[in-house]
Amino acid sequence: MVDPERALDARAPGGLELRAGHGLAGLLQAAPPCLRLADLPTPVERAAWLDTSGVEVWLKRDDQSSTLYGGGKVRKLEWLLASPPFNGDEPILSIGGIGSHHLVALALNLQGLGRKLHALTFDQVVTPHVEANLATLMSLGAEIWDVRTRVGLPVAWLAYHLWRRPAEKGVSMAPGASNGLGGFGFVAAGLELAAQIEAGEAPKPATVYITGGSAGSSAGLAIGLALAGVGCHLRIVSAVESWSFNRILYRRMLGQIAAALAVYGLDPARLRGGVSGLLAGAGVTWSIDHGQVGGGYAVPTADGRVGIARAADHGLHLETTYTGKCLAGLTADLGRGDVRGPVLLWNTHGANDLRRWIDLDWRSRLPAGLRGRLDALRERRGDG
Ligand SMILES: Cc1ncc(COP(=O)(O)O)c(C=O)c1O
Repeated sequence: MVDPERALDARAPGGLELRAGHGLAGLLQAAPPCLRLADLPTPVERAAWLDTSGVEVWLKRDDQSSTLYGGGKVRKLEWLLASPPFNGDEPILSIGGIGSHHLVALALNLQGLGRKLHALTFDQVVTPHVEANLATLMSLGAEIWDVRTRVGLPVAWLAYHLWRRPAEKGVSMAPGASNGLGGFGFVAAGLELAAQIEAGEAPKPATVYITGGSAGSSAGLAIGLALAGVGCHLRIVSAVESWSFNRILYRRMLGQIAAALAVYGLDPARLRGGVSGLLAGAGVTWSIDHGQVGGGYAVPTADGRVGIARAADHGLHLETTYTGKCLAGLTADLGRGDVRGPVLLWNTHGANDLRRWIDLDWRSRLPAGLRGRLDALRERRGDG
């Protein structure tokens, strides 16, 4: 049987497939193109092992969103890489920790196009997972600038643009691929979940748990759920400190995504009361939980590790920076008995095995300063 969505598909420049019948096509008068990089919809399934005091828990399996590299990032890249300024041949410049999932997702999706990633990176706690992500970046030929700290990023960004020759400059992509258009990936994800609820694959959740960093995923999801009429509470478990993600920045991201939807022809009546009116009208509320940040961004916590071990027993592979902390937040709320069910936990981590990409000599391509710090760490740990 012909898949009607595929029948509408066309080829984008570079041989990539376009997802022409995507979920936003019916909502936007002039919907932008969307690449078919992800395997959607991702499954939604019961997680009875997380049920507490009669509250039923379900999982959204974005870890199964791609055999190349799954998780939430590929949902954003489907939109961003299809439109200017990211659909050309130039390198793309972005920002992240040395073990950033966003940078790995970008590097993997660019390498198939013969394109290069430029990255300004800052240090984070070096777990084996972080090291594997960094090894993947280096093995894929990413060029990285070792900025060390997050506070140094604005100056490094400026220096990159001032000193690099135009022909070698990459086009800048927001950290975490979070901007108005990137957020469309999670607007569509909200519609995707609504369709699964409609089809009886899962109950309508009273509370949805998702982790937050650069906010595009959770903001897009809130808007998508509102557009689909899925009233619920979105509990955003922050992976970053409150100076880096908070109610003001979240509202700003909601506004950016709504503005982009308006540009592409969302019925103005839907945004008459602004984005807050849209959410309120649909009964979508949200709150941010900073209780799991612990020692800071990407610093593993004991509760996060407990969650990761528990999830692993049930075949779910989480990590210490985002999704382990998100599960810890859910577990803590459930333990206090103040969560309305059913609950849906959105797993945004793509746990693909990256070993096939990693060259043995990846360390030799690191900037000298970063290589020195990693070598010193290995020596201290006695694994050098
Ligand atoms: C695994 C994972 N989950 C969630 C997030 C957070 O998504 P956002 O940056 O859109 O808030 C990230 C961001 O890098 C991530 O790597």
